[in-house]
Amino acid sequence: MSVSIKTVEEIEKMRVAGRLAGEVLTMIEPHVKAGITTGELDQICHDYIINEQQAIPAPLNYRGFPKSICTSVNHQVCHGIPSDKKLKSGDIINVDITVIKDDYHGDTSKMFTIGKSTIQGDRVIDASHIALWKGIHLVKPGIRLGDIGHTIQKYVESKNCSVVREYCGHGIGKSFHEDPQVLHYGKPDTGMELEAGMTFTIEPMVNIGKRHVKLLKDNWTVVTKDHSLSAQWEHTILVTEDGFEVLTLREEEKSQIAQS
Ligand code: MF3
Ligand code: CO
Ligand code: CO
Repeated sequence: MSVSIKTVEEIEKMRVAGRLAGEVLTMIEPHVKAGITTGELDQICHDYIINEQQAIPAPLNYRGFPKSICTSVNHQVCHGIPSDKKLKSGDIINVDITVIKDDYHGDTSKMFTIGKSTIQGDRVIDASHIALWKGIHLVKPGIRLGDIGHTIQKYVESKNCSVVREYCGHGIGKSFHEDPQVLHYGKPDTGMELEAGMTFTIEPMVNIGKRHVKLLKDNWTVVTKDHSLSAQWEHTILVTEDGFEVLTLREEEKSQIAQS
């Protein structure tokens, strides 16, 4: 396993790609409402990335993925394919955006609630969001990947939810998915030590029921086996000399950074 340390020039490109990915989520927010289809959301994001950002939607044709974004609704865990199905009140949806700008990738996702929120929806959304930020706040040179996984798992399980094991965060840069694998479960003081200049995602997938998942026949969409709700949030992170920088941070999230 070889983990690349990004140069100053590469980091600057990662910052641009990360900011653009975050801006797509901000742009799409007012459209994520009852009655719209996930296919329409895909089209709006696709056009924005190509025409406004002069960037490339990384999912399109990635290993044969047919659309420009991933949309995972309710019991869909990740890699949901945008379709002509309409969103309705009470649904929860993850929108996952990856853009390529100047050869470098930015990867980020967030949850939206359609119309009236539900107690279960809010619970699983909050558990995965807080778990992500608990993981992010640990990042600095010298800590180990197992510390991040352990902290995320412990928090999620304390909320009576479960962590999906089959999919993980990943190194990112010129490639969409690089080493290392960033597991969202694990043991403290195990795994690779972080070094300044590494860039990777943290993207915990959290189920309100059991952790087990299955792949649908489309060969992309991952769903919970027990059909329980699932939520995920994702950021692309840079390890700095004294901590972390969230390359995909959105304006609305700036207050998250101050917390510890
Ligand atoms: N964006 C996803 C991730 O966080 C990967 C999607 S792969 C695709 O790693 F092909 F489905 F787009
Ligand atoms: Co990712
Ligand atoms: Co992603």
